Amino acid sequence: MKHFRSIDEAGADGIAKLLDLADHMAEVNRRPNPKVPALRGRTVCNVFFEDSTRTRLSFETAAKRLSADIMNFAVSSSSVNKGESLRDTIETIAAMGVDAFVIRHGSSGVPWQVEQWTNASVVNAGDGWHAHPTQALLDCYTIRTALNRTSSFDGLKIAIVGDVKHSRVARSDIRAFTLLGADVTLVAPRTLLPPAVDVPTTTDLDDVLADVDVLYLLRMQQERMTESLVPSLREYTTRFGLTPARAAALPEHALIMHPGPMNRGVEMAVDPSELPGAVITQQVTNGIAVRMAVLFELLGSGTDLEENE
Ligand code: NCD
Repeated sequence: MKHFRSIDEAGADGIAKLLDLADHMAEVNRRPNPKVPALRGRTVCNVFFEDSTRTRLSFETAAKRLSADIMNFAVSSSSVNKGESLRDTIETIAAMGVDAFVIRHGSSGVPWQVEQWTNASVVNAGDGWHAHPTQALLDCYTIRTALNRTSSFDGLKIAIVGDVKHSRVARSDIRAFTLLGADVTLVAPRTLLPPAVDVPTTTDLDDVLADVDVLYLLRMQQERMTESLVPSLREYTTRFGLTPARAAALPEHALIMHPGPMNRGVEMAVDPSELPGAVITQQVTNGIAVRMAVLFELLGSGTDLEENE
């Protein structure tokens, strides 16, 4: 694999391979010195045109734990503000010697454009509403470890709830979960569903709760809503938020997931730290191992993972 821009670029076998590799990386991360020389001499550049806390820091940490050098490009203090184009920006950074670009951009498809301007690997850290494949990978990894599964999700029932329309996380998750064999149902007001989806949908959250293995809540992406798609956030919470009563209706083994950042009191109307099934912080932790796996797969050359610094 040279690039990782969508779940389909990896396919079911690629996902399984990356999840197995993430197991090795998680083991590295549990060591007193969580660092291996695998990517020494390689340079990774984070290019984030949209705000991010966890994804950017997670890639930065992943690169450092593999001993790669990491450059962080901050758009707010760059020549983009002087009108420099995306292409010139990428070609300028590439000229400094970069092995991988980790790119987040508000427009769908940018990671495919970037590939035309550089020989470096391109990792999609979120493009518009389109895709966020490493988030999907860390979600698969979290489900696999928390529910003690293999890379087959056959028979697993996953409900994805909320603002599917604007969610690149949902698009990549639907693809990854179904590729691994899970049954995915989307739960959302009709105004927050994309026009075409190839999995079942419902508007009744209470109807699905008792029968799910994973309840995946999405963030209400108010910054992407140009019109009013729900009558009010309060009404949204009443019908689609995770309230204490709804949490109590879930099967005991069910996982509660959220990609972050959470809107407390909106989609998450209960304190997740009080829910035994909530694995939201594990998702963040697992993000590092999974991104180490991706960077190693793209940039590693069969180097030894075991050797300590
Ligand atoms: C998401 C994103 O930016 O796509 N966050 C993340 O990467 N964990 C989801 C969101 O912002 O709703």
